[in-house]
Amino acid sequence: MTTPWGKAALTRFPEDPREQLRAWDASDEYLLGHLAGHFAGHLPGRPAGQEVPLHGTVVVVGDRWGALVTALAEHGPVQITDSFLAQEATRANLARVGVTPGAVRLLTTQDPPPGRIDVLLVRVPKSLALLEDQLLRLAPSVHEGTVVIGTGMVKEIHTSTLRLFERILGPTRTSLAEKKARLILCTPDPALEPPASPWPYRYALPDGVGPMSGRTVVNHAGVFCADRLDIGTRFFLAHLPQVRGGQHVVDLGCGNGVVGTAVALAEPGAEVLFVDESFQAVASAEETYRANGVPGHAEFRVGDGLAGVPSDSVDVVLNNPPFHSHQTTTDATAWRMFSGARRVLRPGGELWVVGNRHLGYPAKLRRLFGNSRLVAGDRKFVVVKAVKR
Ligand SMILES: C[S@@+](CC[C@H](N)C(=O)[O-])C[C@H]1O[C@@H](n2cnc3c(N)ncnc32)[C@H](O)[C@@H]1O
Repeated sequence: MTTPWGKAALTRFPEDPREQLRAWDASDEYLLGHLAGHFAGHLPGRPAGQEVPLHGTVVVVGDRWGALVTALAEHGPVQITDSFLAQEATRANLARVGVTPGAVRLLTTQDPPPGRIDVLLVRVPKSLALLEDQLLRLAPSVHEGTVVIGTGMVKEIHTSTLRLFERILGPTRTSLAEKKARLILCTPDPALEPPASPWPYRYALPDGVGPMSGRTVVNHAGVFCADRLDIGTRFFLAHLPQVRGGQHVVDLGCGNGVVGTAVALAEPGAEVLFVDESFQAVASAEETYRANGVPGHAEFRVGDGLAGVPSDSVDVVLNNPPFHSHQTTTDATAWRMFSGARRVLRPGGELWVVGNRHLGYPAKLRRLFGNSRLVAGDRKFVVVKAVKR
């Protein structure tokens, strides 16, 4: 990435030499160029060549792969992200360009934010809910003089996006588009009373979803299907395996934890590990589990798939793989999850997957495990099981 201050070689995480996708985009470049005073005339009324002063505490929210904090490292920014993969990419990119460890503070969306923010840079996330939640969390640290600049691709910035900035922080306008990216300029209004946060959001499940019938699900902003039960998940809940006491189960890509909690309710003697790469998801899963008073044993872990789980140690892996994500091509994520499951399962252990029929999971699992069996299917979804031999 070429920035106004030099060049940096950046990668995504996990690093894949065949990966063609860059670790930054035109919206990162636009924001960095704007901070350096480039792009004459892109903002009505703003003279060319005027740098944005980066004094005090600089906070960067939603930096996809660490491109922004890497370029701004000399200002000692604080990064706030919901993504473990983004955080790992940031660590690797900072190390690659020689930034001293600790020079950039890496916080998650679940950590308390800095008490005072002087510059707030927001890479607009895909999830409007996550943006709402983050702006509401950060608003008390923003003051009249805080420089607030958002950035994103034109197709990611909607009227509803701008309305959130307006409603939570203050008057907001946008720049001209540059390489299909746009900036959001917001002037904090200290007199504004931000609305109460609707997050985390809890709802009760309907009947007919096995042990989770009538139970509560807790959702932090940005988690998969935060306001209703996904129809694929619903199908999975109706066809989960019967596990035995003492068995080790992993809810892989746990989201709000509804699947792992269902298994734990059915068999409190099972040991369930909930894993997700989203900090918001793992917090939700833990709260869902606790809200339902499960008497069993569980562990909650933010991480990349099954990394760190010992080989041959698990009896059952349950997985509803991601099918759209800004992080990577999702087929690759599903494949990595399935390969990880094959590694961690003990011989005889089972991987259970739910997915859209058209995604072809039965064939994929057969390629990897040498077997796969259709447990259930309807017009749209299949639940498939593969056994480690
Ligand atoms: C389709 S959602 C399923 C959520 C939940 N299990 C359900 O059925 O409602 C897929 C989940 O995988 C997570 N995910 C994506 N990439 C991941 C990775 N590399 N490691 C762990 N989790 C990941 C996403 O954050 C998301 O919560």
